[in-house]
Amino acid sequence: MSHETVKGDAFENLLREERQFAPSPEFAAAANVKEGIYAEANADRLAFWAEQARTRLTWSKDFTETLDWSDPPFAKWFVGGEVNAAYNALDRHVENGLGDRVAIYFEGEPGDTETITYADLTERVKRAANAFEALGVAKGDRVAVYLPMIPEAVVTMLACARIGAVHSVVFGGFSSEALRSRIDDAEAKLVVTADGTFRRGKPSPLKPAVDEALAEDGHTVQHVLVVRRNKQDVAWTEGRDLDWSEAMASASPEHTAVGHDSEHPLYILYTSGTTGKPKGILHTTGGYLTQCAFTHSAVFDLKPETDVYWCTADIGWVTGHSYVTYGPLINGATQVMYEGTPDSPHQGRWWEIVEKYKVSILYTAPTAIRTMMKWGSDIPAKYDLSSIRILGSVGEPINPEAWMWYREVIGAGKAPIVDTWWQTETGAIMIAPLPGVTSTKPGSAQVPLPGIAVDVVDEAGAAVPNGHGGFLVVREPWPSMLRTVWGDPQRFKDTYWSRFEGMYFAGDGAKKDDDGDIWLLGRVDDVMNVSGHRLSTTEIESALVSHPWVAEAAVVGAADETTGQAVVAFVILRGEAELPSGEGADAEIIQTLRNHVGHEIGPIAKPRHILVVPELPKTRSGKIMRRLLKDVAEGRDPGDATTLADPTVMQKIAADLRK
Ligand code: WT7
Repeated sequence: MSHETVKGDAFENLLREERQFAPSPEFAAAANVKEGIYAEANADRLAFWAEQARTRLTWSKDFTETLDWSDPPFAKWFVGGEVNAAYNALDRHVENGLGDRVAIYFEGEPGDTETITYADLTERVKRAANAFEALGVAKGDRVAVYLPMIPEAVVTMLACARIGAVHSVVFGGFSSEALRSRIDDAEAKLVVTADGTFRRGKPSPLKPAVDEALAEDGHTVQHVLVVRRNKQDVAWTEGRDLDWSEAMASASPEHTAVGHDSEHPLYILYTSGTTGKPKGILHTTGGYLTQCAFTHSAVFDLKPETDVYWCTADIGWVTGHSYVTYGPLINGATQVMYEGTPDSPHQGRWWEIVEKYKVSILYTAPTAIRTMMKWGSDIPAKYDLSSIRILGSVGEPINPEAWMWYREVIGAGKAPIVDTWWQTETGAIMIAPLPGVTSTKPGSAQVPLPGIAVDVVDEAGAAVPNGHGGFLVVREPWPSMLRTVWGDPQRFKDTYWSRFEGMYFAGDGAKKDDDGDIWLLGRVDDVMNVSGHRLSTTEIESALVSHPWVAEAAVVGAADETTGQAVVAFVILRGEAELPSGEGADAEIIQTLRNHVGHEIGPIAKPRHILVVPELPKTRSGKIMRRLLKDVAEGRDPGDATTLADPTVMQKIAADLRK
C-alpha cells in the first residue's frame, strides 16, 4: 500500500466533467426517495437508520439500541433485536398475499427456463432448511457453497440464514485449492455443490473440484450435497455425498423461522487483499439486511409490483449476495437469474434476455459494458430494450466514454445511470447518485448515500477541499459494515482502522470535484507517481478509451530510474474501428494514442509505451490484474497467472510483445 503523499494539486486538471444529466420531472416525481432524505439523515443519522431498520424489515423482537460503538472498531447495530433473513425475504411476502409474484425468472445457459414464485421459493427454502438440519447443521455452523448461477444457490443461502448457519459462498470459478483453504479457514461442516454447469453450450464440471479439495484428510466436512444440474456422471463418495433432489423430496415443506440476534453472523465471504491469504469478511444480520434493503430500493428506485430487475453478478461475489439474494428478495422484487456468459450462443444473449423478460433495471460492471462496446452497437440495436428505465454500474470506475455508451445505446439516452461504489467489506452501496434526485455525471459515483459518512482526506486524515484528491475513508460506522475478519480481529484492525485514527480506510484514492462530487481514482496502489506528479491509472485509461479506436485499456506505473514511474498502457483496439493500414501503421496508431492522452490530460500523462494487445489479464471477477501487466512492463516474467479467468492471456501478450 502506498503511503506517499497525495498531492491534491496534481488532480486539479483531471476529471473535469461538464456533462450533467438531471432526472426528468416525471422520473423525479415518481421516485422512491426525494431530495429531503439527505436532510432527514443528516439531522439524526442513527434515527434515520433505526427508521430504515423498522420499516424495511419485520423484526421478531424490536431492538433497544441503534448502535453500540463502545468498543471500536467492533460495531453492534440494532442491539437486542431479533430478525430472520429468510422470513423477511420469503414468508412475509407470502403472508402478505404475494405468494404468486414471480421471485426468479431463471434462464439456464442451454436455454431451459424456470419461473419461481415467492410461494415456490419459500417452500424450497423450508425444505432445504429441514434437510440441512437433518444433516446435523445447527445454528452457527458454517456451510460452504460452491454452485453455479442456479436457483439452488439462492435457496441454499436463505436456508442457511433461516437456521442461523453461516454460509461461505466460494465462486464456482475458483480452483479446488482455493476452495479447500476457504473450507478449512471457516471449518465448514457441509458443502453444497453441483455436478456442474454449462459453458458455451457444453457441460462444465464443478464436483470434481470438491472431490479434489476433500481428497486429503484433515478437513471438517461431513457431507456434500450435490445438485444434479448438467447430469454428467460424477464420482460418488458413499456416506459423504448426497443427492440434492432426494434430500429435498424427503424433507418436510414446513419449517418455522425464528428470529436470530441482530448481530448473529450471516455469512463469510473471502476477498483478496494486496498481500497474504484471502480475508474472510464477516457480515452479520440486522444491519446488513437493513442497508441492503434500503439501498436496493433507493438507488435502483425499485417498484416491486412492476419492475423486472436483473443483476448480472455471480452469487460468488458480494454483489450477488447483496443485490441478487438479500436486497431484492427482502424488497419483494421480481428478478432475472442467468446461468451463462454474455456471448453464448451469440453476443446478443444479454439483450435477448432483457427483451424477453422486459428487464427494467439492469445492474452490471464496467468491464462488461466495455466488452459490449467492443462488440459493437449494432448488436444491442437488434433487440427491444425499451423496458429499461435504470442502469447500474459497479466494481471499478466507469470511464466516461463507457458511461455515455451505456446511457445512449442501452438506456436510449434517458435511463439514469447509477454508478455505485462499495466493497465486499462495506456490504452494501455507500456512494451513488439517487436516480430521482441527483444530476448524474459520466464517470463519477458522486454522493455518499443518506446516513453514510464518506469523506476524502489527506495524508494526515484532514478532509480535502473541493477540487483536491486524497484517500477515501468512512468516518462513522454504517449498518452493513464488516464486523471483523473471520478468525483474525487483529487483521481487521490493521487493514482497515490503523491508517487513519478513528476512520475506516477503504484503500481507494478519490477526488472531490468543484461541486464536491466524489470521483474514484482506483486503488491507492494503482495511483502512479511520475516525476513527482500523481497520476491515476483510471484517468489515463479513460483518456485512452475516449479515443474511437480503443475498446479497452489498462495502465500501470512501471519503475523508472529518472521519473520514479513511467506510464505504460496496454490497449485493445476496437474491431469496428477504421485504423491506419500499410507500412508504419502500428507506429502511427501508437503515436496518435499518445498524443490523444497528452491532449486529454497533459503531456505528463502521455504513456511512455503503448502496447497493443489482443486481450487483458482479468480475474474471474473481471478485474484487470495490473500486477501482471506491471511485471511485463518492467521486463519481468509475470509468474503465477493461475487466478486469471483465462490463464493463457499472459502468454498471448508475451508472444505478441516478442513479435
Ligand atoms: C473495490 C471493491 C462492490 C462490489 C464489487 C467489487 C472498486 C467498486 C466501484 C465504483 C470505482 C469501484 C474499488 C473498491 N469499486 N465499485 N463504482 N467505482 N471503483 O467489490 O471486489 O470488494 O472490490 O472495487 O476499488 O475498493 P470488491
